[in-house]
Amino acid sequence: MPPTVSVNFYAPEVIADPWPHFAQIREAGPVVYNEALSVWHVHRHADVTRCLTDTGHLSSTVMKESAPWIADSMIANDPPDHHRLRNPLQSAFTKRGLARWEPRVTALIDDLFARFAAKVAGGGRVDLVDDFIWHIPSVVIAEMMGVPPEKRAAFHAWSEDIVTGVGGGTTDVSDLGRQKLARAQEASRLIREFLAEEIARRRSRPADDLLGQAVAANDGGAMTDDELIQTAVLLLIAGNDTTAKLLAQCAVKLFQFPGQRDLLVEDPGLIPAAIEEVLRLEQLSLSVPRSVVNGPITIAGQVIPDGASVWLMTGTANRDPDVFPDADVLDVRRSRSAAHFGFGHGAHLCLGANLARMEVRIGLERILSRYPRYDVRGFEFSESWSVRGPVRIDFAPEPTA
Ligand code: HEM
Repeated sequence: MPPTVSVNFYAPEVIADPWPHFAQIREAGPVVYNEALSVWHVHRHADVTRCLTDTGHLSSTVMKESAPWIADSMIANDPPDHHRLRNPLQSAFTKRGLARWEPRVTALIDDLFARFAAKVAGGGRVDLVDDFIWHIPSVVIAEMMGVPPEKRAAFHAWSEDIVTGVGGGTTDVSDLGRQKLARAQEASRLIREFLAEEIARRRSRPADDLLGQAVAANDGGAMTDDELIQTAVLLLIAGNDTTAKLLAQCAVKLFQFPGQRDLLVEDPGLIPAAIEEVLRLEQLSLSVPRSVVNGPITIAGQVIPDGASVWLMTGTANRDPDVFPDADVLDVRRSRSAAHFGFGHGAHLCLGANLARMEVRIGLERILSRYPRYDVRGFEFSESWSVRGPVRIDFAPEPTA
């Protein structure tokens, strides 16, 4: 019998504070069966690294069921299909490929920040997420994809619904899970309809935006139309909620660790390292799902049967004490922060990681240089397991005396 626990990771109170449950899993053993969700948890840093590299035994196709709206995109497919779906976009997201976007991204963020600062100066209640952070990634990706401004708010709302719906009706069979699934299905229908039109427009009139590039790169027909639409859906949704919540987490964590914030104010060159460290400490996607194929597979001496669902507990692995001493502490000077799983690892390593890093860096630079002693009077977390993070931050430019 494997070590067994019974934890519903979709319960709002568990999402709000998962750490005691992670500790319980860690104590139970390196590989643990969770009878509440019928999944296996693997959580040690070394084991998660191995599993994320072994695409031959741990398949991403499990995502097809929990996120059907991106079933035919790279994230839900294994090599060699995965390469076929990812390669046409790879170069646009390298540091070099993104360099041409940086001035535009900076201008967009500066514009949003100017509006935020005006609201702060006006006094009254200010929400750092709703009044600033929330808009950044959706405006940036919409600009890069060539989405017209009037559709941008809708995109963010669709994206939130789709991401929150992951696992609804499948792993999470509660009423809440089913409601989330229904909202996600409707959002995905609307987003697909819109993208089909945009892709058709690019075909008749080539454009130098990401969607145009994807259409052009696919000229040889490597992807079917449906795969192309799902890839665009993936790009539109994968970076919105995640990037916003990472910046929001940075703002909250640096407030909670004011000594670390002072270090960044003194030396903004430390900001990129701080972003990695926040992502290590507060992994947004607390687990990465896989299923065992061509199995069974043995991990840390435990046999996991063929067909089993495995959750690679990246949030727990990011606090593995064997790799990160004082793992629960934010330390922007930590030497191995970058070994975290915040952006995944291996073949499916986040395609948009460099874009996210750029947006969060610019956003954080603006906040810290204008409000080096900002106050957080309260914050609220989303109920999403797959992208966890603050959705409201009551912000004040300075602590009250
Ligand atoms: C994959 C996290 C931002 C696009 C992933 C994965 C993680 C992740 C953990 C791996 C999933 C797996 O192995 O199954 C994040 C976080 C972000 C972020 C924390 C922000 C802080 C973005 C952005 C984009 C993006 C801005 C694009 C605009 C993708 C894509 C994949 C992916 C396309 C699939 C890659 C593949 O399957 O080969 N992301 N992401 N992400 N991400 Fe991100």
